[in-house]
Amino acid sequence: MITTGEKLVEETLTAGFNLAVYLKQQQKIIEEAMDKSLPIAKPEKIYKAMRYSLLAGGKRLRPILCLATCELTGGSLEMALPTACALEMIHTMSLIHDDLPAMDNDDYRRGKLTNHKVYGENIAILAGDGLLAYAFEYVGQETKNVPPQRILEVITRLGRTVGATGLVGGQVLDLESEGKSDITAETLTEIHTRKTGALLETSVISGAILAGASSEDLQRLSTYAQNIGLAFQIVDDILDITATKEELGKTVGKDLQAQKATYPSIWGIEASREQAKQLIDSAISQLSIYREKADALRAIACYIINRKN
Ligand code: FPP
Ligand code: MG
Repeated sequence: MITTGEKLVEETLTAGFNLAVYLKQQQKIIEEAMDKSLPIAKPEKIYKAMRYSLLAGGKRLRPILCLATCELTGGSLEMALPTACALEMIHTMSLIHDDLPAMDNDDYRRGKLTNHKVYGENIAILAGDGLLAYAFEYVGQETKNVPPQRILEVITRLGRTVGATGLVGGQVLDLESEGKSDITAETLTEIHTRKTGALLETSVISGAILAGASSEDLQRLSTYAQNIGLAFQIVDDILDITATKEELGKTVGKDLQAQKATYPSIWGIEASREQAKQLIDSAISQLSIYREKADALRAIACYIINRKN
């Protein structure tokens, strides 16, 4: 029986794999690529607003997952780097829009003032739109040495992930559920599957698609991604209650304040933690066939449950 946390890291990872070093090294590659991806042009204001949020730090989990699965399934870093950047552009734009007064009306994100607090609401909306459009352009224009059919598949999948079937639909369900006391765990899971899980799954899968992975690999990685996606959201809900503003870099206690249904509000904190652990164990069980080649994906799954921000 696998147990999650420190013990699992010891039991399942190859000796010598250092997640902190790995994350730092991958984050550096991604930060540099994103900085280069979006030079300032005219009108400067919009480029500055887009760069302000894109380069505001963050865990860079989505691009890291994309690069990891591309390499795991036989591709190279170069094949997946444009898509990795695009995933972060999409994630960033969704947060800019999520923080707007018309949505969650938040003042802080990633430890900095939110985009609309610095640039105003009109520019923040456009900065989000600009990043979304550019993400697609960037994958199409910058992906090299990958058969066009795979690039098309990634672009199509990205569209499905951000649209009404994914993030947009999930956000609408989330808005509709605010203040309702009868939200079930099933409804909550649907919201999070679309709002957070979809982009995490596409991050994992797009790397593998670009590498030309087999359908068996795609199936295993999808299951891994769905499990870590849900665990990620459960941990997010727990951190909203237990973490400090300094740890999270954003306002805490917002869910309770907005009377949002969360996993802890339905199950309690301890049962939510237990559920997240089980999901991480299921995710990791998908990776055994890859042995030590999947150490990064295993360690990321453990990190999701042990993270403090
Ligand atoms: C944060 O959730 C928000 C999201 C994960 C995505 C929200 C999606 C949109 C605003 C749709 C964006 C539009 C397109 C076209 C993709 P949260 O409020 O639960 O978490 P937080 O505490 O980090 O704000
Ligand atoms: Mg929010």
